[in-house]
Order: sequence, then structure tokens, then C-alpha cells
Amino acid sequence: MVDRLVIRRPDDWHLHLRDGAVLAAVAPESARHFARAIVMPNLVPPVLTGADARAYRARIEAALPPASGFTPLMTLYLTEQTDPADVVQAHRDGTVTAVKLYPAGATTNSASGVRDIRKVQPVLDAMAEAGLPLCVHGEVTDPEVDIFDREAVFIETVLDPLRARTPGLRVIMEHITTEDAVAYLRQGDETLAATVTTHHLMIDRNHILAGGIRPQYYCLPVAKRARHRDALVELVTRGHPRAFLGTDSAPHVDPLKLQPCGCAGIFSAPVTMACLAQVFDEAGALDRLEAFTSLNGPAFYGLPPSEETLTLVKDGPHPAPERLETGDGPVTVFDPGREILWRVQE
Ligand code: NCD
Ligand code: ZN
Repeated sequence: MVDRLVIRRPDDWHLHLRDGAVLAAVAPESARHFARAIVMPNLVPPVLTGADARAYRARIEAALPPASGFTPLMTLYLTEQTDPADVVQAHRDGTVTAVKLYPAGATTNSASGVRDIRKVQPVLDAMAEAGLPLCVHGEVTDPEVDIFDREAVFIETVLDPLRARTPGLRVIMEHITTEDAVAYLRQGDETLAATVTTHHLMIDRNHILAGGIRPQYYCLPVAKRARHRDALVELVTRGHPRAFLGTDSAPHVDPLKLQPCGCAGIFSAPVTMACLAQVFDEAGALDRLEAFTSLNGPAFYGLPPSEETLTLVKDGPHPAPERLETGDGPVTVFDPGREILWRVQE
């Protein structure tokens, strides 16, 4: 039985660090285990320009513990007003690593996102030319489309046409939740990748709705049927070279989640690596964990893998921390709802 695993230090290819008091509390949680993270730009107001991204990066760096070694990789929030020249310049000067597409209204703080995808074509063309990847929140916003179908419909009606008319554009389908997305990734070429969250490998929609409503499991894209979760687990534990970890760790203080219209987002940063070791162990695939968390992402982004390591130990069960206190109130930590035998050796 394997009870100790040393892997290259993982990276998180989709992370929400927020700002202010919440940033101060959550940044050290990611820095504890991760080498780098792609930092989402959905602040209020959003991170729109290279100058915004540099200012936000400075605030993140100020929130990190001394000598943490953690590198925030910045993104820009794509709008119909985004200037292709500013995006390309921010990429050239090393400020930004990716651009984020939010369909307007698809998720938390996405009101400034894109309504008419054709309006951003000049930006997409410039990104394809410059080799700058596009991170995609892949859900349609049409209220006529059932929330559980929004990812599959997006792939067919928005993503596939977008990729067809933008040859060479590198696209990351973020936080995929369906077997439809798994199938689309599998038939894609080397310009297409996908991130998978920790929680979508562990929960299905019953966790949210069966036996009482549990708002702490509500996130977007919403968790689907168990069959879809199983397809995600199979994708990552059998190993796919362009599937990698993006936790989508998305803190909201409890009062904002536990109300009649609660926010979408699950905060998983503190427990993610222990949870993933559990998932891969249960699948008999511990030897594939490192590729998912530490190798496939850098390879897609054209970056070297971390030279540091992380050690995981199986000596539990370990009770999970329930919440993280922040200056704005408590944030509940993801509860995987099962025994976790693994922990990160600190
Ligand atoms: C994210 C957030 O809270 O910013 N919420 C979520 O449910 N995942 C936004 C997002 O990534 O969709
Ligand atoms: Zn997110």
C-alpha cells in the first residue's frame, strides 16, 4: 500500500483570490501548497487592462507570506470593449498569461462579460496570432436552456464555431462538468485543453439537493448527475495530457451564500490536495496524480513544471477544517462528504 507520495509542486489553473480582507485570508491558503495559479479577473470592477492586472498582482503579492515562492499568473476579463492591442501588449510584457471569457450573466460577477461573441473576434484573432490562451466559462446564458444543459449547449453552439473560425487559438474549457465536455476534449487537437475542479470529482447534484438543500455545494457550472462525475474521474485518473487541475476555489463569506439567493462558488483551496490524493487513490491511480496537478498544465501553457515538491501522506482519517475566518466574515471550506485519509505534509 502506498502511504506516502512525493510529487512536483502543483499549480492551480483556475483560482479566485478576490480582494481586500478575503484576499488577505485566502492567498496564504493557496500559497501553502501551490507553486502558481491562474488568477481569475472577476473582481468588482473587473480586471480589464494590463494596468489593472499589474495593480491586482501587486495586491496579491502583498497578501502572500514572506518568501512564499507562489507566483500569481494574471488574466484579463474579456469584454466587448477590450482593445486587442492592449491585450497583446500585456501578454508581450509578461503581465498576463491568459484572457478570460465570461458569457454575460453566466456566473458570479460576469455582468460585464460578452453578450455578442462576434464582437470580440478581433481580440480572439490577435490572441491566436500572439499565442495567448483563452480561458472559457463554457455555459450559455439563455434562460430557455435548462441549467443542467448549459455546458453541453455552449460547446455545440458557441465553442465549436468559435474554434472553427479562430484557427490556432489555444482554448481552455474551464471547470468541465459533463461527459459531453469530456468527449469534446478527447476529439480536440493540441490547441484544446480542460481544467477539472476538485469538487466536481467528488460531488454530484444529489449532494446539493437530496435530503435537504445544501447551498455550500452550489457552484457554477452546477454539479451534474453521478454519471458525469464518473466521466470526469475517469478522464483524469486514466490520464489525459490536456486535462489538468483548476480548483475554481471561489470563496464567498457565509452570509452571502446562506441567503434566499445565495452566491455560487465553493472554497476548496485548503483541502484540495488531500482530496485529490483520496480520489486518485480510490481509483488506483496515485501514479497519475502528478501529471494532473503538476505537469499537464505547465505543458499546455508552455511553462516549465515546478522544481519544488509536495509530499502527501496517508495516515488519516483527518477531520477537515470547517471554515476560514476572514476580515469580512467566515468562509466555509469544501466538505467532500467522505473520509479523507490523506494530508499534505507541511
Ligand atoms: C465563481 C465565483 O464565485 O467567482 N463561482 C463559481 O461558482 N464557480 C465564478 C466562476 O468561476 O464561475
Ligand atoms: Zn471560477
